[in-house]
Amino acid sequence: RGNYTVSFIEGDGIGPEISQSVKRIYEAAKVPIEWESIDVTPIIKNGKTAIPDAAIESIKKNFVALKGPLATPVGKGHVSLNLTLRRTFNLFANVRPCRSVPGFKTPYDNVDTVLIRENTEGEYSGIEHEVVDGVVQSIKLITKPASERVLKFGFQYAESIGKPWVRAVHKATIMKMSDGLFLSTAEDVAKEFPAVKFDSELLDNTCLKMVTDPSYYQPMVLVMPNLYGDIVSDMCAGLIGGLGLTPSANIGDTCSIFEAVHGSAPDIAGKDKANPTALLLSSMMMLQHMGLNEFAVKINKAIMETLAEGKALTGDLKGTASTTQYTDAIISKL
Ligand code: IPM
Ligand code: MN
Repeated sequence: RGNYTVSFIEGDGIGPEISQSVKRIYEAAKVPIEWESIDVTPIIKNGKTAIPDAAIESIKKNFVALKGPLATPVGKGHVSLNLTLRRTFNLFANVRPCRSVPGFKTPYDNVDTVLIRENTEGEYSGIEHEVVDGVVQSIKLITKPASERVLKFGFQYAESIGKPWVRAVHKATIMKMSDGLFLSTAEDVAKEFPAVKFDSELLDNTCLKMVTDPSYYQPMVLVMPNLYGDIVSDMCAGLIGGLGLTPSANIGDTCSIFEAVHGSAPDIAGKDKANPTALLLSSMMMLQHMGLNEFAVKINKAIMETLAEGKALTGDLKGTASTTQYTDAIISKL
């Protein structure tokens, strides 16, 4: 027991309930992990939003964290803690697989694509100012090193999961310099991976084709700048049944943080209604990352069987089960 320790940020809103679900399932599956709960209530350091030192130390020590949703204020207020975490640990690649699940009917049953989002810059640079009253500028920052890093990761990831094709998604027809740099970097990096097919596509076209025939994207890993990845990943989630089903991994050189793509859903918080699947699937990515694949396979099978059976689905999947009932159903299949 306790061979591995993972930092756990339970998060806001539905965070504690879906975290509880993960903990119960891990205990039932006898996963050799000990959770170290950490508090990331923001502090202000040198005038900037920061993560408390104890939390940073925990993640640095454990290298791996699982994270529930953290509420982000709209407009004014502190910088999103989600972003602060990505920045603090330089989590440069955000991996967002999107796969149809059995048992929940959508117009498509064959979605299986992977989106990799640059995770440190672009419109998320946070560089904004008011030029004069009524005129503001937000800087979209694209650098060659960050582009190169995420694109290399994308190619390596494609190789590792047996997807033979990387497609860079961009809008270099309009963003000639910034997306132009991302695209030319992609073309350069592609030369280092001759075994992986490479091409590129305009963002708007990707969206159109994705919602017309998602199966076309099955062999691919899509790599794109930050904001595009944010938007396209929600769009892809819509194809399979929503954000309750989509996991993600924020990968850095040393530390990695695994989190659901969804928010804190304050409207259903504390009501035992939330779907914990996205956090669970994120934790499956975590287990694989930690070399605990056998547990990931076992738990994943129980989740998929429960979904396929369709008897204990949560409200977002048009079911009537509570978070607890859904969790119990998964545990009964372990
Ligand atoms: C996501 C979320 C975050 C983002 C928010 C919560 C800051 O939407 O992970 O996709 O915009 O990146
Ligand atoms: Mn998002």
